Amino acid sequence: MTLSSWKKVEAEYARLSKKTLQTIANRNDLDAFIWPAPHLEADVAKQFIDEGAMAALQGLAEERRLKDKIRSLFAGEIVNVSENRPALHWTSRGAGKGIPAAEAMAREAEKAATFAEKAASGGLGFTVRTILHVGIGGSDLGPRLIWDALRNYASKGPQIRFVANVDPEDFAEATADLDPKTTLVLVVSKSFKTPETASNALLAREWLVKALGETQANNHLAAVSSAIGKAKAWGAAEDRIFPMDESVGGRYSVWSSVGLSLQIALGVNVWGGFLKGAVEMDAHFRDTPLDRNVPAKLAMLDVFRHSNKDGAPTRTVLAYAHRLRKLPEFLQQLEMESNGKNVSDAPGGLIAPTAPIVWGSVGTLGQHSFHQLLHQGLRDTSIEFVAALNAGAGDKARGRALLANAFAQAEGLLEGRSREAAEKELLAKGMSAEKATAQAVHMHMEGGRGSTTILLDTLSPESVGALIALYEHRTFSAGILWGINPFDQWGVELGKVLAEQLDSAIAGEDPGKRDPSTLRLVSRARKTQA
Ligand code: F6P
Repeated sequence: MTLSSWKKVEAEYARLSKKTLQTIANRNDLDAFIWPAPHLEADVAKQFIDEGAMAALQGLAEERRLKDKIRSLFAGEIVNVSENRPALHWTSRGAGKGIPAAEAMAREAEKAATFAEKAASGGLGFTVRTILHVGIGGSDLGPRLIWDALRNYASKGPQIRFVANVDPEDFAEATADLDPKTTLVLVVSKSFKTPETASNALLAREWLVKALGETQANNHLAAVSSAIGKAKAWGAAEDRIFPMDESVGGRYSVWSSVGLSLQIALGVNVWGGFLKGAVEMDAHFRDTPLDRNVPAKLAMLDVFRHSNKDGAPTRTVLAYAHRLRKLPEFLQQLEMESNGKNVSDAPGGLIAPTAPIVWGSVGTLGQHSFHQLLHQGLRDTSIEFVAALNAGAGDKARGRALLANAFAQAEGLLEGRSREAAEKELLAKGMSAEKATAQAVHMHMEGGRGSTTILLDTLSPESVGALIALYEHRTFSAGILWGINPFDQWGVELGKVLAEQLDSAIAGEDPGKRDPSTLRLVSRARKTQA
């Protein structure tokens, strides 16, 4: 790693490490650490960061030419170098005029929108009450998150069920109470050869054929894929196959036809609002100088917190909104598949290690489980609260409780509790001095656990669109700062190849030369599965 700007960032980290977070967070320049963007603000005032550190990070962004990379992204230039492609996910939100691939996608998107309206209004020759969405990874996690987040905005249209796992229990559970006569099976797979999806697509087809017969079954199939031939071979009619472009990566694809089940079920207005919010965030990211550019600045903070020596190896995402409960899972793929890498083509090489391990849950549930470790454990993690100011879905008391809990956790993690304060509390409750002294030791909390609060104005289609686009651009920016390509995923390939070999080995074929543990596992499984 030879970037001179990174040395300065490291020096800033070392300087800040001599202070307590409580001191850093007791800021006179609070406003500089509240970062407003469309539909939301990122409050990083409780984070391990100050103006000096941010200035050094801006130096890193300059040396990594982040501004120029943002320009390249929005010009449709090749930013996915290892696969020789642009990254055009942002064009699926209705932009990209003048970029031929984006214009072709827009024409296809129109066809998908027409199909969505037809499907929702009984135009397919049967009433669609349920869409069985079959996909995995980027062809599943985005639609799942957004369906949960926005389904309460939909009028009483079709519902969506998701099937992803190769374990047939998933399919059985999803279809247990479904009527094939009113179900549209939508397979979403860019490659149409992902084993889990291919196997669930066959199960779904068999399920329809059994109930409706071959001809009727085909009328209940649709697909989103770039492998048109494979989708046709599965049984979908040509005019019900909606292409995906190679330049839209799975984890960035919810805005494209990958979101077709959402378009059908949410309806054109909610879907339009979702895209609109994202477009607003795109404009912010594209046009705002880096010192006010929120996705870029959050990425700088990520690099600062996760890549410095003694930095935090994980980020804990706490969505204080039931409707955003799938956010941690979605971000796991977005951030860890994008940036969990160590190969760098960038001048100056890699800043290692790169992406944090992203994990988390929904507030307030985590408070009754793993927050114990956040408050008193000695593992460092950067915590991220996500909440909406209109929390509570109209129930003010509960909305207040939700926000109060989020704010209380953030405050408690920062400030902690001294032994003396704990002892005082116990004495006030009437405990003997001796017992209070002994118990207060266990109640002591160091504090100094930093957090970011991402506060949405309201939980709405627009704000959710803006939030997801914010995370996409933050992930892209962090990848650039780390010196890696956030758009490829070579690391997931090996497992697929090995799984195919081991499937044959369990079925009885020669397993070949392997480690003793794997050979033993194969022979154990053969007894029940061969
Ligand atoms: O295995 C990982 C992955 O390749 C993801 O990148 C992708 O989102 C997912 O599989 C699904 O791929 P497909 O849409 O081709 O089925």
